[in-house]
Amino acid sequence: MTTIQSLPKEVLVFVFVCLDSVEAIGECRLVCKYWNESAAIAMLEIPLHLCFHNKMKAKKLMQYLMASQNKHQHVKYLSLCHYDNEILETVLPLVFSPNIRELDGYGSDMLYRLITKIAKESKAKFDKLKCIPSTYYFTDNYSKALSTFKDSLTALDITLVEIPESPSHLVNQLSEFKCLATLDLKAPFDNIAELDRIIGGCLQLQQLQLSTEAYVQYDDAPMDRASLSTWPMDNDSIHQINSLKSLDIVSNGFPHFVQYLMFKYPDMHSISLTIHKTDAYITKNTVQLIGSLEKVPNYCLTYRVTVGDDITTMFHAAKSGINVVKVGYHHILRGVWTLVMSVEGRKKESNHQTTFSMHIPPNANTKSHAWYLSQAQIPIDSLEIDLLNYRDFDVDDINDLYRRIAVKDETVVFFDILFDYPNIESVRFIARDISNCSDFYFSHQHTRLKSLEICGAQLGPATSLALTDMCRELSVLKLVNCSILRKDGIVCVNMEHNTFQEFTYRLMPCNYYTRNMGDLKNKTAVEYAERTLLALELYYSRETYLWLRIKKANQAIFLKVMPNDRYRYLITKKQFYLRPPKARAIQISCFSVKHLLLDLDSVHLQIDEEYIEYALASPLSSDYDSAEDSDMSDF
Ligand SMILES: *[C@@H]1O[C@H](CO)[C@@H](O)[C@H](O)[C@H]1NC(C)=O
Ligand SMILES: *[C@@H]1O[C@H](CO)[C@@H](O)[C@H](O)[C@H]1NC(C)=O
Ligand SMILES: *[C@@H]1O[C@H](CO)[C@@H](O)[C@H](O)[C@H]1NC(C)=O
Ligand SMILES: *[C@@H]1O[C@H](CO)[C@@H](O)[C@H](O)[C@H]1NC(C)=O
Ligand SMILES: *[C@@H]1O[C@H](CO)[C@@H](O)[C@H](O)[C@H]1NC(C)=O
Ligand SMILES: *[C@@H]1O[C@H](CO)[C@@H](O)[C@H](O)[C@H]1NC(C)=O
Repeated sequence: MTTIQSLPKEVLVFVFVCLDSVEAIGECRLVCKYWNESAAIAMLEIPLHLCFHNKMKAKKLMQYLMASQNKHQHVKYLSLCHYDNEILETVLPLVFSPNIRELDGYGSDMLYRLITKIAKESKAKFDKLKCIPSTYYFTDNYSKALSTFKDSLTALDITLVEIPESPSHLVNQLSEFKCLATLDLKAPFDNIAELDRIIGGCLQLQQLQLSTEAYVQYDDAPMDRASLSTWPMDNDSIHQINSLKSLDIVSNGFPHFVQYLMFKYPDMHSISLTIHKTDAYITKNTVQLIGSLEKVPNYCLTYRVTVGDDITTMFHAAKSGINVVKVGYHHILRGVWTLVMSVEGRKKESNHQTTFSMHIPPNANTKSHAWYLSQAQIPIDSLEIDLLNYRDFDVDDINDLYRRIAVKDETVVFFDILFDYPNIESVRFIARDISNCSDFYFSHQHTRLKSLEICGAQLGPATSLALTDMCRELSVLKLVNCSILRKDGIVCVNMEHNTFQEFTYRLMPCNYYTRNMGDLKNKTAVEYAERTLLALELYYSRETYLWLRIKKANQAIFLKVMPNDRYRYLITKKQFYLRPPKARAIQISCFSVKHLLLDLDSVHLQIDEEYIEYALASPLSSDYDSAEDSDMSDF
């Protein structure tokens, strides 16, 4: 009979390696002598993170490693940090063996020198090592280490202050790294010949990341435009490489070399381009680039536009079958008043979708989002307005609060958007408060909105009344992290004109008390946060009573849901009214609903059309009633 004791040691090691943590494996060592050894090996085989900020722990660890010296070939994944030279000299010979696959963590000259030395002195070849830690300064020691492991390294991370001319410099010999699949190169290359000299010979590349941002001043060292205009003529000399799937470029000026890269790597799946500077020349070229980028299945282009400059041409250039527009009030850097525009294209089978995201700088005025939206001038399928995130969180500057849209204005912004864009079918709105809606009761004005998600905002009874009136075609409504003001102790969402495919109300508590904590000096904000936290505690894990009014059937049903209990109890209207005072009561009214989901902290309720029909037919259901005259006097 096979027992756990009769398993070969290798199998035991294999089993232990699958455990969650070093601690769990450590416990296995205590079980018996036989397990002790296999578990000790397993502890070394899982990724080993050696962090030496605690001297005592470091000492113990080194003692342990010294005692198990003969096992050091089991270490495959090692990460080192907070070490000093003395620790390195002791620990590296104990854990750095020809079996090592990945060395990670903090890179230093000493580390590079030591691993080079160990590898040179070793009889066995270090031919499995895929990566070593990178360093901000490209030193001789780093270069030597890279070249020592060049037969096996699959990933290189190189930062150069200037492009070396010498053919013997490592960066001009990358073709010797036969396994190189991922290259991250930060260097001030400024013409295609230089770039081709460096990466031209990397024939197995799958991922390439290029950054010129740290050094190249676009104005000082523009890309060699002459070479750009001539390269297509001798593209025979450019070796095309099909292995490259993803390209990531970060640049200060316009990266002229991108056309060359797109020619060189014809089979890319994704390309991402980030340009940190702004001027009219960059904008013009960026817009022109879209035509080429659109050939890549996934592209992402992020660039800056001076506030007020043209963005309409980009919308026209990049628009596709489905256009999603997102606007948020943003902060990036102090004193940089630019709009950050990012355009993302995605091809899925025959569907092409473009997402335009605009991050408006914090000093923009309260109407900026409207102005930028008006610039889009393309059909928008889906719109997201975010007044809550991306805001300036600088607690030292109390004025930052004034740069954002004031909470009291959010209702106006919300309804203005629905008004101004009546043809958009899907809207996501992220804000703090849209409860003050009594002024927005527009029975004559209808939108074509089909799907609406509101996140984070406080809603009032009037909010849903205004919505159901304006948005008769709304069939998907999601309220996420929204607190809803109560009326007579009942949370009311009255959407009686709407035929819902899906109605979701979801609350995840943390959001409440973190959203206004950005400014700790603001007492009102902190008090508000505390109040909501208290309210939340009261709310949390309370039984919930639902009154669901279905106008189509002219009937209403009543349900009770207990915390952490998936079962729903069908009850009567009387029981709804006789609920315990602390219970949460929700009333939802609609014309009809196919799927209803309440996911409120610990209370979950999911019902579908079939269940609702069954409940409506039950003797426990009541008449639809008007919300107003349904009070306790009924009983
Ligand atoms: C496990 O082995 C180590 C030596 O490798 C020994 O010090 C320890 O006492 C052993 N533990 C058990 C429970 O056998
Ligand atoms: C290599 O690193 C060692 C240890 O930090 C240092 O002493 C030495 O000067 C470095 N060598 C070069 C050529 O930079
Ligand atoms: C060189 O590349 C350009 C741009 O992709 C293309 O139009 C041209 O036909 C190519 N020439 C040759 C000889 O392949
Ligand atoms: C509600 O909005 C109206 C106008 O839109 C405004 O006059 C009033 O002060 C607001 N009330 C609150 C409590 O914000
Ligand atoms: C809701 O709040 C939770 C918790 O803070 C957060 O993780 C989640 O992203 C929020 N969802 C939305 C849509 O705002
Ligand atoms: C504090 O925050 C509240 C709500 O976020 C805001 O109404 C008020 O103006 C702020 N006060 C100061 C002094 O910033």
